[in-house]
Amino acid sequence: MSLVEEIDYGTPRSRADQEVKLTIDGQAVTVPAGTSIMRAAMEAGVQVPKLCATDSVDAFGSCRLCLVEIAGRPGTPASCTTPVAPGMVVSTQTERLKQIRKGVMELYISDHPLDCLTCAANGDCELQDMAGAVGLREVRYGYEGRNHLKQDKDESNPYFTFDPAKCIVCSRCVRACEEVQGTFALTIQARGFESKVSAGIAENFIDSECVSCGACVQACPTATLMEKSVIEIGQPEHSVVTTCAYCGVGCSFKAEMRGEELVRMVPYKDGKANRGHSCVKGRFAWGYANHKERILKPMMRESIDQPWREVSWEVAIDRVASEFKRLQAKHGRLAIGGITSSRCTNEETYLVQKLVRGGFGNNNVDTCARVCHSPTGYGLKTAFGTSAGTQDFDSVEQADVILVIGANPTDAHPVFASRMKKRLREGAKLIVIDPRRIDLVRMPHIEAAYHLPLRPGTNAAILNAIAHVIVTEGLVNERFVRDYCDRDAFEYWAAFVAEARNSPETVGLMAGVSPETIRAAARLYAAGPNSAIYYGLGVTEHSQGTTAVMGLANLAMATGNLGRRGVGVNPLRGQNNVQGSCDMGSFPHELTGYRHISEDATRTMFEKLWGRPLDAEPGLRIPNMFDAAIEGTFKGLYVQGEDILQSDPNTHHVASALAAMECVVVQDLFLNETANYAHIFLPGSTFLEKDGTFTNAERRINRVRRVMSPKNGMADWEITLAIAKAMGFEMPYSHPSEVMDEIARLTPTFAGVSYDLLEKEGSVQWPCNEKAPTGTPVMHIGGFARGKGNFMITEYVPTDERTGPRFPLLLTTGRILSQYNVGAQTRRTDNVVWHDEDVLEIHPHDAEQRGVRDGDWVKLDSRAGGTTLRARITDRVAPGVVYTTFHHPETQANVVTTEFSDWATNCPEYKVTAVQVSPSNGPSEWQREYAEQASHSRRIAKVAAE
Ligand code: SF4
Ligand code: SF4
Ligand code: SF4
Ligand code: FES
Repeated sequence: MSLVEEIDYGTPRSRADQEVKLTIDGQAVTVPAGTSIMRAAMEAGVQVPKLCATDSVDAFGSCRLCLVEIAGRPGTPASCTTPVAPGMVVSTQTERLKQIRKGVMELYISDHPLDCLTCAANGDCELQDMAGAVGLREVRYGYEGRNHLKQDKDESNPYFTFDPAKCIVCSRCVRACEEVQGTFALTIQARGFESKVSAGIAENFIDSECVSCGACVQACPTATLMEKSVIEIGQPEHSVVTTCAYCGVGCSFKAEMRGEELVRMVPYKDGKANRGHSCVKGRFAWGYANHKERILKPMMRESIDQPWREVSWEVAIDRVASEFKRLQAKHGRLAIGGITSSRCTNEETYLVQKLVRGGFGNNNVDTCARVCHSPTGYGLKTAFGTSAGTQDFDSVEQADVILVIGANPTDAHPVFASRMKKRLREGAKLIVIDPRRIDLVRMPHIEAAYHLPLRPGTNAAILNAIAHVIVTEGLVNERFVRDYCDRDAFEYWAAFVAEARNSPETVGLMAGVSPETIRAAARLYAAGPNSAIYYGLGVTEHSQGTTAVMGLANLAMATGNLGRRGVGVNPLRGQNNVQGSCDMGSFPHELTGYRHISEDATRTMFEKLWGRPLDAEPGLRIPNMFDAAIEGTFKGLYVQGEDILQSDPNTHHVASALAAMECVVVQDLFLNETANYAHIFLPGSTFLEKDGTFTNAERRINRVRRVMSPKNGMADWEITLAIAKAMGFEMPYSHPSEVMDEIARLTPTFAGVSYDLLEKEGSVQWPCNEKAPTGTPVMHIGGFARGKGNFMITEYVPTDERTGPRFPLLLTTGRILSQYNVGAQTRRTDNVVWHDEDVLEIHPHDAEQRGVRDGDWVKLDSRAGGTTLRARITDRVAPGVVYTTFHHPETQANVVTTEFSDWATNCPEYKVTAVQVSPSNGPSEWQREYAEQASHSRRIAKVAAE
């Protein structure tokens, strides 16, 4: 095995349509107009020496190493900044050029430490390579004069070092931070000899605006910016391309290895979701895979108050099967069920639902997508006929107006956010609809045209008000509606939104947004010409989550913003495989590809292939499983890769349900919170230890490749197979590719998908079948999947969760960049330096009223429960609204959230809880007990592991 090499063409690809023909070193070359001479040469296989150029950022022309000669032109222009021209005749290797390049390199090396042999970048340093390429053999100047060799290293970032002594001030890092990441954290300070790279105003990296995306480290041609893991472990010797297991962007990475040891994760330029970029989680936060708290042996106990006992895989699997069989014999076929994971692969998820339907003989299978994007599936399927977003990420490059609602892309989907920010810097207009002033509203070189800081819970009303303006001001795209949408549904809807109760004047008053702003935002969205909607859990996790998704679909149809690039309705998915877990038939009423379990033809197809009869009745959803457990009819649960106790709403209710079951089986990397109620613990495997696929937010099926052996001895899919076999339902697969072949046979939208195709194409977006053999980047071109687009009536119904004298504030929740979901992975990495506790954001006015100062402990109470955390006083939230994240079990924000949920899908209403905030002396009693218990559990886990 060797390292996957990627060519650096020196400058970005030109998007021009016209072609230019020229000659380079005697070779005829044809490239798009606007291509640099350097890139044209590289594409023809002619390597021009370079240092300050790299193809992820625009050319800068500072190092003067890439000079060329052009027939008929004086001088030696830089090939990176000179575009090709028709008929141009270029020479890249002449005596004059060789002498100039040698002189340039000599100057660089005369101010560079000569420690190549012990340098961490030895063998992976462009400066070293260029010295060799230009034939530099000696440096005439000596090292006595002024130089930069004695500067201090900045080691403040936990993941990379900055060693200014090795810096050649090429500015690649500064440009990467600006152009690729869009953070503008770096600058070149001072001038001439004094020039140096600086994070912020002469700050350390850790104290600066830097978000640790790693783009600068990636761009640096020397060892100046260097991963600490490479310094510690050494240069990698082979690599495997795989997919990040954190968020729904689905970034592709090269996992660079030494033997079985992961050295670093490098974003893959050919990754179609990320185009070579990364965020701090995927790039650096993989240390949890080796964390000492990881459980590697199966464990059992008779009851949940007993200590865990390590057992062999055989014993554990036998116990799972015998317990589940016993419970079904005693309490009936419907007494057990399973929960699939949006963090596991498509193949693993498919196998869990197959185990439940075929092996357990019921449809009691659900997924954690229930608690996030189930309204997306329902809403978009009703409107368009497909339960997924309409575009690929590249599409944002052609958007003129971007509407972000209920999403915080810079924290939750950072790599896509960087691409969005780039488009905004190019001039696209931005509308943000969010109770909180998210970063996108105002940041370097970006300012939203309109921010609608609505009261939590009023999305559907605001969307109706926007629709009201579009309909009553004549902004409907009549041609699109006539050609592609159901006319009757449109007329009915148009009459509904035109009613006065949906006017900005009425809605604005109730939602806390000025009517003028609503009107202006509606006009901007309708004007486009290309308007794209991006939304997140701030839309779905409401009692009217599905209504709001339908509201977005209505807006896009009414304005004709569908069926081409630059437009669409795009859910930003939270977890890496939320889309996939929904596609794979994880819901109790649906088989793969969103086909209802009651459809006889579909069910029969599965029955024939699986050799088992299937129940035609939908099974229990997660909340119904909990209710049934408390009632005493649901007794056993298999939970793969999901911490339901921490991630589901109303923690006390979930805990009671789990405690009421007789056999809870948890399969995970760590003893999570749910495992406190488990009888059998099956150690899971990380994404680094298995093969499979994840499907990202743009329906892109990406390969996950095994880069090391499973530390627990079994990949997750193998564990499910073992349980199925022990239950007498054999599933004979020897590799996940065979599982995908079965999915393709059974699922029309996946019919063309195979591992061979993924190998060839890199990744594909479903639908992928005979009609679209290499996938479908943009959906609904020339018509909707369901036939005619369906306008739905989106009556605003206020949530039953109301503020009042006891609970006068509204709590809404979200994520932060450095942490992921319940934090099981990221809390076990150095990412904790950025966020080691959840805090409560509160407006200065509300804080003052309660005598709360910044940093004080406060008690946060709702009618469901209470927790304690520190206050952060900020005007990012409006008066009357408080906000927190849910990454830390010590806080358990979901103790506070209520049982209310979306009318259509039961997706919990995480985003609206009436609360009170009051001063406190510190963590509450249960939190102190929890801290003690957690350290006790950790001790047990450690003892068991030893
Ligand atoms: S790590 Fe990313 S954000 Fe930080 S300085 Fe480098 S490019 Fe900028
Ligand atoms: S830190 Fe690296 S990329 Fe940045 S200017 Fe110095 S050598 Fe160039
Ligand atoms: S943006 Fe998401 S998928 Fe990409 S590296 Fe970050 S966490 Fe991973
Ligand atoms: S690579 Fe062209 S001037 Fe540096």
